[in-house]
Amino acid sequence: MARVISVSNQKGGVGKTTTCINLSSFVALYGFKVLVVDIDPQGNTTSGFGIVGEHKDNLKNTIYDVMMGDATVKETVCKTTIPGLEVLPATMEFAGADVELMSLAESREKVLRTALGAVRSDYDYIFIDCPPSLNIFSVNALTASDAVLIPMPGDFFSLEGIGQLMNTVKLVKKHLNPGLEIEGVFMTIYDGRSNLANQVAAEVAKWFGKSVFKTRIPRNVRLGEAPSHGLPVVQYEPNSKGSVAYMELAIEMLKRDGINVKPLANLSAYRYRGGVPVAKRIPAKKPAPKKPGTKKSEIKNQ
Ligand SMILES: Nc1ncnc2c1ncn2[C@@H]1O[C@H](COP(=O)(O)OP(=O)(O)OP(=O)(O)O)[C@@H](O)[C@H]1O
Ligand SMILES: [Mg+2]
Repeated sequence: MARVISVSNQKGGVGKTTTCINLSSFVALYGFKVLVVDIDPQGNTTSGFGIVGEHKDNLKNTIYDVMMGDATVKETVCKTTIPGLEVLPATMEFAGADVELMSLAESREKVLRTALGAVRSDYDYIFIDCPPSLNIFSVNALTASDAVLIPMPGDFFSLEGIGQLMNTVKLVKKHLNPGLEIEGVFMTIYDGRSNLANQVAAEVAKWFGKSVFKTRIPRNVRLGEAPSHGLPVVQYEPNSKGSVAYMELAIEMLKRDGINVKPLANLSAYRYRGGVPVAKRIPAKKPAPKKPGTKKSEIKNQ
């Protein structure tokens, strides 16, 4: 049964998508079956995995269809260049879906929870990339999750924003999802030379105590470059500081779940050599069986 984790922070540009792509990639490389749900109309996780351009337009289904009840998760997931890692993609058309969702009278906050319920036994981990705001999408994500993972850069505004997120978590816990836990908080886009970043880290440690991960994700240019190649950083620049840091975050997160894994040996072996990748859609349905009498031999026998 998958553990469902929302990567959430109401502040924009704090590394939610970068974390979803790279943490999920390492968890999958450790042999777990992983689904990444893109519930942000910006579709950054989707394009970050190489589902871009014409291929994006060719997607038959997206999370929009799932949320509207027109497609199942199984019919919609896409493969990625990482074995065992699939994406439930989002595109800009999803932007208007909040209005449509709001018009649903009942259970509009639980649409994603219900949809993912049908596939939870197919995966070990489901990560949800949340949008940078409090809206029906982020509420759906938190309602569908077992836990929230919070990326936290070392700047003052991010520290201010964390109070809003904790308030949202409290409200969702009270009204929609009593089991929601804090998976943890970790420092990201971190520059250890910055006094402010160190002060913010100390403040976060005071608030969150043991929930704070030891791993800090450094500011690393390769993490920013990788999505433009449609690749997680481990396939773009496997030995970069950003790649190693996300591996360490995956190790620490798995350890919290009682799973001990060692650092992957020979990270270089994961470099992607297939050119610009294109995620392939898993066929939505098995081809319909041919009607009897359409094969030549069958026609002869009639
Ligand atoms: N550790 C890092 N080092 C350097 N750049 C980073 C790092 N993490 C994220 N970035 C860059 O910062 C920008 C914002 O990151 P990202 O898109 O992951 O944030 P987000 O929280 O998902 O944003 P949004 O709120 O818009 O969804 C991106 O350009 C990304 O490449
Ligand atoms: Mg994002």
